[in-house]
Amino acid sequence: MSEQHIPVMLKECMHYLNIQPTLNYVDATFGRGGLSKAILEQLTTGKLSVIDQDLAAIEAALRLQKDYPNLIVEHTNYSELQSLLHKHNLACVGGILVDCGVSSVQLDEGERGFSYRFDAKLDMRMNQNQTLTAYDVVNTYTPAQLLHILYTYGEENNAKMIVRGLMKAREVKPIETTFELVDVIKSSLPAKILKQQGHPAKQTFQAIRIAVNQELDHLESFLKQATACLCPQGRCVTLTFHSLEDRLVKQHFKALSTPPKTNKRLPQQEVTLEYQTLHAKAIVADEHEIDINPRAKSAKLRAILKL
Ligand SMILES: C[S@@+](CC[C@H](N)C(=O)[O-])C[C@H]1O[C@@H](n2cnc3c(N)ncnc32)[C@H](O)[C@@H]1O
Repeated sequence: MSEQHIPVMLKECMHYLNIQPTLNYVDATFGRGGLSKAILEQLTTGKLSVIDQDLAAIEAALRLQKDYPNLIVEHTNYSELQSLLHKHNLACVGGILVDCGVSSVQLDEGERGFSYRFDAKLDMRMNQNQTLTAYDVVNTYTPAQLLHILYTYGEENNAKMIVRGLMKAREVKPIETTFELVDVIKSSLPAKILKQQGHPAKQTFQAIRIAVNQELDHLESFLKQATACLCPQGRCVTLTFHSLEDRLVKQHFKALSTPPKTNKRLPQQEVTLEYQTLHAKAIVADEHEIDINPRAKSAKLRAILKL
């Protein structure tokens, strides 16, 4: 099992964070700390608060704390950002980083049930203390709920066929493992679709994982808090890995950095914008990085500055 997560666009993240050694920062998704270590290396009196909802990630962060006493570690959801900063008496911070989704370590820990490559119980919880699991979603959600999840979180065009297959299988017995779920998906789809490129269970697994961890709701709540918690000249840098996450970031940053539309026939009021995006288009990884780390292929980096 791999304990490795290669950080994506590390150089670009550091460029857009523009670390000031005496300021305080937040890495909202510690993972295995690749990005956190790069930030810590640049801090002098500044502190870095790191968050992760995964206990194994938190254990790794606590080990790192031995070398960096200015590291604050919190096992929580990043949607608790504001209360965490309040708890540590931080009125605002110089920068906040979020690297969304699951880490390579989580995917490679077969028993976590995130991957269709390993046989395991249907779990997919990033936070091991959470009660809702993939088993509950797959076996107890209504057909309408499952259709919604597969269409919206998985952008799965074959959602109807897959949900029909799931309901049929559930009549016989609960679907208990990742491989059982893969078999149900495969037997729900015609040969023509199974022959297409890509694993037939990929989008369903992504959709169920997003539902289990309520990823989009937490990200939306986090983004509002993160941009509100920046000190003047503070920056929020985001890394997203699919269009649903990227859309949330893009829309939130756009709403903060563009003047509201007004009726041109009415007297115009001057609007002072408080935020500025730091690039025109989202930043993507170069081919060299994608060759070394295929995970970088779907990554998009966005950054915003509080004026
Ligand atoms: C892509 S990895 C981060 C990798 C990290 N940047 C590194 O260099 O090792 C995402 C991490 O964020 C955590 N995570 C995802 N969503 C979260 C949330 N809503 N709250 C807290 N942690 C979250 C996951 O448990 C995972 O460890």
